[in-house]
Amino acid sequence: MCGIVAYIGPKDATTFLLEGLQRLEYRGYDSAGVAVLGKSGALKVCKTKGRVADLAAALPARFKGTTGIGHTRWATHGEPSDANAHPHTDNAERIAVVHNGIIENADELRAKLTAEGAVFRSETDTEVLAHLVAAHLGDGEGQLEDAVRAALKLVVGTYGIAVVDSAQPDRIVVARNGSPIVLGLGEKEMFAASDVAALVRYTRQVVHLEDGELAVVRADGFRTFTEDARTVTRQPSTVDWEVGSYDTGGYEHYLLKEIHEQPAAVERTLSGRLDERFATAHLGGLNLDARELREIRRVKILGCGSAYYAGEMGAQLIEELARIPAHSEPASEFRYRNPVIEADTLYVAVSQSGETYDTLAAVQEIKRKGGRVLGVVNTVGSAIARECDGGIYLHAGPEISVASTKAFTSTVIAFALLALHFGRIHDLSPADGRRIVSALKALPGHIRQILEQDEEIAELAAKYADNAGMMFIGRVRGYPVAREGAQKLKEISYVHAEAYPASELKHGPLALISPELPTVALVPDDELLDKNLTTLGEIKARSGRVLAVAHRAPEAKLADHCILVPKSEPELDPLLLNIPLQLLAYHAAVALGRDVDKPRNLAKSVTVE
Ligand code: G6P
Repeated sequence: MCGIVAYIGPKDATTFLLEGLQRLEYRGYDSAGVAVLGKSGALKVCKTKGRVADLAAALPARFKGTTGIGHTRWATHGEPSDANAHPHTDNAERIAVVHNGIIENADELRAKLTAEGAVFRSETDTEVLAHLVAAHLGDGEGQLEDAVRAALKLVVGTYGIAVVDSAQPDRIVVARNGSPIVLGLGEKEMFAASDVAALVRYTRQVVHLEDGELAVVRADGFRTFTEDARTVTRQPSTVDWEVGSYDTGGYEHYLLKEIHEQPAAVERTLSGRLDERFATAHLGGLNLDARELREIRRVKILGCGSAYYAGEMGAQLIEELARIPAHSEPASEFRYRNPVIEADTLYVAVSQSGETYDTLAAVQEIKRKGGRVLGVVNTVGSAIARECDGGIYLHAGPEISVASTKAFTSTVIAFALLALHFGRIHDLSPADGRRIVSALKALPGHIRQILEQDEEIAELAAKYADNAGMMFIGRVRGYPVAREGAQKLKEISYVHAEAYPASELKHGPLALISPELPTVALVPDDELLDKNLTTLGEIKARSGRVLAVAHRAPEAKLADHCILVPKSEPELDPLLLNIPLQLLAYHAAVALGRDVDKPRNLAKSVTVE
């Protein structure tokens, strides 16, 4: 949510800032802006409502500088507008600030600064920071890093910030508290960003700031220190992912690329974790031995959006394979309801980005109450990963498109591994363990088979895309699939979609069924097949249209169209049934001319409440 970039060095900063912002645009995309300092130190700011492309078009021809900061925004305080876009400046136009996060005591600080003479020109909480830093610099020759440090001491909230001072063009000051900041180390030049995606084209050597840390960044290096001015030493690390992982790689959209990357992502999630000898899974990062795991009586899974639905599939897997009661709940609800934390419950936080504020807050609440939390997280070293007691990294690779696909699938795989591990410690037989191990190994091939139907699914999507709404139904294992399928369609195509348990249809929503509201029905070949076919009959009897996603095509009188998926083991079938729904949503969105990778009103990682 919101992206930050910064450059200092011998080259023109604007080139990097614009390209970096484009790479971070998936995090927020309702306005963008840059500020640069020329060698003489003159501060130039350009910002606009709209996309980074609009900013590039709005830049004056002579907008040059060798020190600069930039921002792409997802509005929280104040509507998307030119005035509310970052960077924000003080009244003397000396200081410029870009900020991710929320300043909770902004109103109070604004009132105080206004009384002291500051004139505010935006509705944002961020502008407070610009005036506050300027107030601490005063008219004197103070160091920018000291002024930022002093200003942040007065601030309550979360932030990742980058600050420049026209009187000190040889430095940029960055700080982190709850919103990531990464430094990129170049040859006689330095970069900073809220996400390595902006940096990989320029450098692979990075330094992640910790919460409560600041850095003063100069062309020839950096110094990190705490809010109490204590210097801390941070060793650079090398970014693992290839530059190509951050490109569309010849696909029309990141979303399509990420859907097609799923076989490889699943292989990485499974890599080195299957134990054929004992028919179990090895999960080195759990930090729980077999005895501790045996004491767990319940599993509670927390996540937001698709992470929550992946958690629902995970809960089913744990209950089925380990026979431990498991339940998934939106982290955004959990954290506000004074949850009862039990010693024999294992809490699992799910997050692709590892930054989602509601999920992080849920983890902190559990830990504060003495509970034990594992993370199922894609982004290594992210805030949620660090906060948890242990966990499973997905290794799905960077996910850029706002709607989650490969991270969703890898999350379900991670839960299958956890459930297998748990199950084999409890009562899952070696034979059943072997059955799951070999089914997991076959999944990448099964996913490839489904992806080969891309064109047929595109044709079906075009047939169904122009309806005002769609119903998604599934029974028991199929219900989380229906929920995620409906979520994906809404997110990227803006077609209204509702998910219902197939068993509940006749208790209300059957009243909605008509030729104008088609149903996507999940019809696995399992012990509930007959029940599902009966439901299809009930829909067809009300002139409803049915698109079945099934292992065997239902009779023509029960379904108008069918997408066939390969059969896995019943516990793992939901994961495969979900793949065609991703393609269906993608192609429906394309058919409707939507901005697939950057759907309206959304952002990839929601780092605010
Ligand atoms: C946002 C995105 C969703 C995503 C959710 C959780 O709401 O729009 O697509 O599923 O955040 O993100 P996380 O990074 O925690 O998995």
